[in-house]
Amino acid sequence: MSEDVLDAGDQLASSTSEASLRRTEARSAEIEAAIATDPSSFRIMTGDRPTGNLHLGHYFGSLANRVRLQDAGVDTLILVADYQVITDRDGTGPILERVLSMMADYLAIGLDPSRTTIYTHSMVPALNQLLLPFLSLVTDAELRRNPTVKAELEATGDRPMSGLLLTYPVHQAADILFCKANLVPVGKDQLPHLEQTRVVARRFDERYGRVDPSRPVFPQAEALLSKAASVLGLDGTKMSKTKGNVIEIGMDADTTAKLIKRAVTDSHRLITYDPVNRPEVSNLLMLAGLCTDRDPAEIAAEIGNGGGGGLKKAVTEAVNEYFAPIRARRNELAADPGYLLSVLREGNAKANVIADATLEEVRTAMGMRY
Ligand code: TRP
Repeated sequence: MSEDVLDAGDQLASSTSEASLRRTEARSAEIEAAIATDPSSFRIMTGDRPTGNLHLGHYFGSLANRVRLQDAGVDTLILVADYQVITDRDGTGPILERVLSMMADYLAIGLDPSRTTIYTHSMVPALNQLLLPFLSLVTDAELRRNPTVKAELEATGDRPMSGLLLTYPVHQAADILFCKANLVPVGKDQLPHLEQTRVVARRFDERYGRVDPSRPVFPQAEALLSKAASVLGLDGTKMSKTKGNVIEIGMDADTTAKLIKRAVTDSHRLITYDPVNRPEVSNLLMLAGLCTDRDPAEIAAEIGNGGGGGLKKAVTEAVNEYFAPIRARRNELAADPGYLLSVLREGNAKANVIADATLEEVRTAMGMRY
């Protein structure tokens, strides 16, 4: 196995390289074309950590894409990754509240529980059990090389690496493989985990063989990178709760207006779309463009000499108008936690049926049928 492991280590290290990223992007375009002709040949699985409220960066970066794929007819599973919350922090926090808030966001933006299965790690035991055989298929050296884990460790400051932070990419492989998903819409920071998932699937096949001789127990899952440019925070840096630069999906119109009023712009009155030289202004224009389905340069031309004030007014209107119906639905949903829980329980029940069947197959492949 040593050669194999070395090999995989190199792959992991290179999965975020420029050339590899270009290949994944090109492949994502091919997959999009295949989805348009035959959505039934795909099963999509993706998820989020319930660590805070979802914001417009999440919405335009990934959530809207999930709704689009669901509506295109692709079977979709969405994981509320509650065990990933404790990879790099001391407790689960107000977890119930966060999970329900995430459910409200999901349903408000148009994820439909009759077509999309929404579930949590902690309520699907067979998914978690896959972690044991999967961990035997990876080495600690390989795990320590994962660039996303390294970045996450760094972001915690001086915190020591927890066993779960080191191994969660393998747990994430279980997230993807328990339902035999072949397509995972993610951002590029997740590509090392996708590579790790393929390595686990391949090694499982090599080590334990097949139950159905015509196919491996686990498929090779591919990433689907979203074409959307990332929306930055109101200060022009990555939108992130800890930086206090976010607009949450669930915020009201007044709060949104106040936050946008405080956004960073620059001192030129003439508004132009120039992402390289005017990143903050251009980010706000892009946000307005996404909300109105218009070209940001065209919006800039309309604002003309309106300066930061004119820009912020246009952005506020665009955001509040686009999100008004979503927020109205969200308010109704949030007022009915019993309903949100019932949707989650139904999703968990469906995920358990799938996970139990996969674990049975894994036990058979491993000869553990007693
Ligand atoms: N790690 C992902 C994130 O931080 C969330 C996640 C958990 C996920 N399990 C997944 C994404 C499985 C895709 C597939 O955003």
